[in-house]
Amino acid sequence: MELLSNQPRYDTVPEKYIFPPEKRPVNNVVNRSINLPVIDLRGGCIDSDIGRDEIIRDIMKAGKEFGFFQVINHGIPAKTLNDMLQVCENFFKMPAGEKERHYSDDMSKAFFLNSSTQYDQSETRYWRDYMRISCYPIEEFINQWPEKPENFRAVLSEYTVRVREIALKLLKLIAEGLELDKDYFCGDLSNGTKMEVNYYPPCPDPSLTMGLLPHCDRQLITVLAQGTAPCGLQAKYKEGWIDVKPIPNAFVVNFGHQLEIVTNGILKSVEHRAITNSTVARTSIATMTVPTMDCLIAPAKKLVTENNPPKYKEFIFRDFIEAYDVALANREGVLEFFKLY
Ligand code: OGA
Ligand code: NI
Repeated sequence: MELLSNQPRYDTVPEKYIFPPEKRPVNNVVNRSINLPVIDLRGGCIDSDIGRDEIIRDIMKAGKEFGFFQVINHGIPAKTLNDMLQVCENFFKMPAGEKERHYSDDMSKAFFLNSSTQYDQSETRYWRDYMRISCYPIEEFINQWPEKPENFRAVLSEYTVRVREIALKLLKLIAEGLELDKDYFCGDLSNGTKMEVNYYPPCPDPSLTMGLLPHCDRQLITVLAQGTAPCGLQAKYKEGWIDVKPIPNAFVVNFGHQLEIVTNGILKSVEHRAITNSTVARTSIATMTVPTMDCLIAPAKKLVTENNPPKYKEFIFRDFIEAYDVALANREGVLEFFKLY
């Protein structure tokens, strides 16, 4: 097993992690003057009327322009978030032997640990370890989560419930913003929650490596905790990239492929990537709201008009997941399977 986190530190970048020049972060334009919109959720009580219309307006504006925004004052206690970040860091710090039992790339497992990417291991490797967790419904999965480190299960349960709540609230606001039934995204479209917890150790030369290559998320919506590292996540903006600057206790929200398809392209699933840094280990937690495997996905009828004819065919979510892997997560490659024109 080859986990980056098993080694205390690296003095040089091993050959198999060095990307060819065109894929390195430095050879892509990064626009430093643009920041993502930051939306104040006013304590997360967005069922009440206080500022609701304004929040909806801000989400739709950010969603259309960036496909990405940050949320603050979201109602999740700092302790819940920090406990989760801490327990995840503790997980990666455990001795190799303790982690080994979880090592797998079997997507059907409720919990697994891996390194780099599930894709072709002969290609250049990403500078990251990750765990992939099926989180919700909790009772269905909790017994398959690791028992170590201490409190892992309890902390993960609490975090899952809280972040899922925010994701569902955001989906209601988005449905309203699109003038769909406010429960449009409830049910099969948002039945589950999965997490990807990424661990990027300090890298001796960040200019040669990538934590994650550009990709869009597979599912409906992602709520990401960036942790405390000074940089890492970048989002595509126009022809270049922008830094998603970490804000303490904020979450980054972005739309997955399914939200783009259901909204017939009104909201975009935007490519993003992770760069590495040389000073601190970075832990990020991406919480995805996911459709059931049998869920029928199609552009919402109300959003399809003469001026905006359907861009995608109907399909079953399971088929999308297969295509995503065939296309190795490449945005245009995967959409090619489902595009109508
Ligand atoms: C992901 C992801 C970004 C990050 O896990 O899908 O995009 O900042 N993570 O780690
Ligand atoms: Ni992602």
